[in-house]
Amino acid sequence: MQNNQLLEKLGSLTVEEKIGQLVQLTGDFFEGDLDTVVTGPLKKLGLHQNYNVYNTGSILNVTDREKIIQLQTDYLEKSNHKIPLLFMADIIYGYRTIFPIPLAQTCSWNFESIEYAASIAARECYEEGVHVTFAPMVDIVRDPRWGRVMESSGEDTLLAKKYAESMVHGIQGRQGENSIPADKIAACVKHFAAYGAPVAGREYNAVDMSEHMLREYYLPGYQAAIDAGVKLVMTAFNTLNGIPATGNEWLNRDLLRQEMKFDGVLISDYAAVEELIMHGYAEDEAAAAKLALVAGVDIDMKTAVYANQLENVINGNEELQQLLDDAVYRVLKLKNDLGLFEDPFRGLKESRPLLATRILSDEHKTAARSLAEQSLVLLKNEQELLPLSKQAKIALIGPYAEETSTLGMWAIKGDERDTVNLKTGLLKHVDPEQISVCRGSHLLPDYARDALGKYVDKLPVETVDEDVLLQEAVRKASEADVVVLALGESIYQSGEGGSRTNPTLPEPQLKLLHEVSQLNKKLVVIVYSGRPLILTEVAAQADALIQAWYPGTMGGEALANILYGTANPSGKLAMTFPRSVGQIPVYYNELKTGRPNLPENGFYRFASRYIDEANEPLYPFGYGKSYTTFDYSLLSVSRKEMSADKPVDIEVSVTNTGKYDGKETVQLYIRDQFASVARPIKMLADFKQIFLRSGETGTVQFSISEDMLKFYGTSMKFESEPGDFEVYIGTSSQETPLTFNFALRAGEHDE
Ligand code: GLC
Repeated sequence: MQNNQLLEKLGSLTVEEKIGQLVQLTGDFFEGDLDTVVTGPLKKLGLHQNYNVYNTGSILNVTDREKIIQLQTDYLEKSNHKIPLLFMADIIYGYRTIFPIPLAQTCSWNFESIEYAASIAARECYEEGVHVTFAPMVDIVRDPRWGRVMESSGEDTLLAKKYAESMVHGIQGRQGENSIPADKIAACVKHFAAYGAPVAGREYNAVDMSEHMLREYYLPGYQAAIDAGVKLVMTAFNTLNGIPATGNEWLNRDLLRQEMKFDGVLISDYAAVEELIMHGYAEDEAAAAKLALVAGVDIDMKTAVYANQLENVINGNEELQQLLDDAVYRVLKLKNDLGLFEDPFRGLKESRPLLATRILSDEHKTAARSLAEQSLVLLKNEQELLPLSKQAKIALIGPYAEETSTLGMWAIKGDERDTVNLKTGLLKHVDPEQISVCRGSHLLPDYARDALGKYVDKLPVETVDEDVLLQEAVRKASEADVVVLALGESIYQSGEGGSRTNPTLPEPQLKLLHEVSQLNKKLVVIVYSGRPLILTEVAAQADALIQAWYPGTMGGEALANILYGTANPSGKLAMTFPRSVGQIPVYYNELKTGRPNLPENGFYRFASRYIDEANEPLYPFGYGKSYTTFDYSLLSVSRKEMSADKPVDIEVSVTNTGKYDGKETVQLYIRDQFASVARPIKMLADFKQIFLRSGETGTVQFSISEDMLKFYGTSMKFESEPGDFEVYIGTSSQETPLTFNFALRAGEHDE
């Protein structure tokens, strides 16, 4: 539809019909006769009795082809304006083919693979009729007590920007212009803004940070999604510096629309418009409706506030009427970009190849396995215990040995029956008699099960007494050459509403680990979790340690390929693993402080340190081992003094000095020695991945531009300042064998 036709359509709507376009409900509002709806979901949500559901603009989390066809058909028959419904859903890291959780994916540092995974998720959504997915989530996270770190891209701003861009391109396509082609759907970046920094890591808690911190670290990920053409932004639940994001006019209009140039649809998070009242920011529904509209919220997700109040709030106020029209226009434009006016079913009714050739196809499963292999992180490998010998007798023990609930909390369409578990994966490499398997312990202690409320019904039923499990585990471990312990937190201890004050492995599993480690057998520990757990005592007892995250549908196969060496681990941590919970938040790009705790000072009380713990984390950002080793040397640095038009070009030689072929992620960090604001001890400025055969030498090039040196100074302008810089190049944020310095001169040109 042409723009003028959109405007005509807009002009033809009544105020009630306009407001309906800004309301998002769930599918149950369209099931059964009118009386059922009115006395059921309508009443429960508090929608006024005369609300006409056939004015509603979009539907949340209806995700199946036949249902979508039926709902859209019914709706178009009964709605007066005949504007098609939008179907939106949480397809965060896969529809039916489930990829590793986003925090795991980012540990691959392979954004081409991440984009490809997103394109597969979009393709499967397109097959089933979903129009919008609520991804990517790019909230920067530094606190593993928060359950939603699992769906983030981790602690680093550069990785968040690359993740955002890759996800938007994978979901929407790279076409740039407005329309979204077949096989693609609309993306929604979230949660705006800074939801990843709740006080004390407690879910939905307040966020309070300087504008400098917000701009420097938290906003660039959202900006990257906007620059990639993201069609929607979702508001955050939290207050930001005292004002709820969903009612924050400065955040959503001045910053998001004016400064960050976002012109798409701003949708609230679930019930967040009504929660303005609970925040104590709106005194009632009418105030909440006005605050949200003025703050720029276009769609009210799953509350009655806009539907019940907007008409009265706007009544006769031309300014508010204009805001309403602007919001409705953006929704109509999104529908138009999806081609819904031409075909409300986006091809669903055409005969297409059998779903089986598209949904969970071999191509899709191969992509999921490959990304999972790249997302696992090898944290320890004493005496090169891994890869396992195929002759070794293995005892596979633990609650995750045969677990298929390894998809994470946001795999709403994932089917655990599709999951390849670890035992199945291992049996693709060795015969059954080579592996003895047992559960070894309960997944959780009773108090932790009870703490999960309704989710307790989703947990495995523990049918065997713990002591019996333990005795069997000790016996089987004693008979084996190598013990592989598959341990982890429950997926329901992670994700939304999953904040934990002490993010460790559950006690029954720690007891199992302790008992088995007394046997002095070679011990491999695999950890399934949605966050960095406190693994200090686990690492001390393990000979080899792998962070598996929640690796998705093909996780067991990917893990087995890593364990038997048909895949060489290349993952690098996208989030720091603390040594103890008291260190949280601990992250790589912290500020220097006036009293740094420098090793050369030895024991010095009056430095920035603890008296009961090291400053350093257990495993730092960017860390991850390989089965091989890489040697670095600095080949060339083009200049020691740079300017805006004269970058520093660098060439690094990397040699695979081990016996396995492998991929290395060469990381380049920069430290700004002094500036108008204190700068971090180092910032990831670039990275390159290189695959090298055993013994092979390759080179990687970097170019440090003046843009890379920009930051938000006291003037809140994003600019560079002349001065001295240190460069660190290496295999993690703490292992940087190559260093050199250079200076940025203002406007000077080199010889
Ligand atoms: C949830 C989440 C958000 C999700 C939305 C719709 O509460 O905060 O990320 O997209 O509601 O399910």
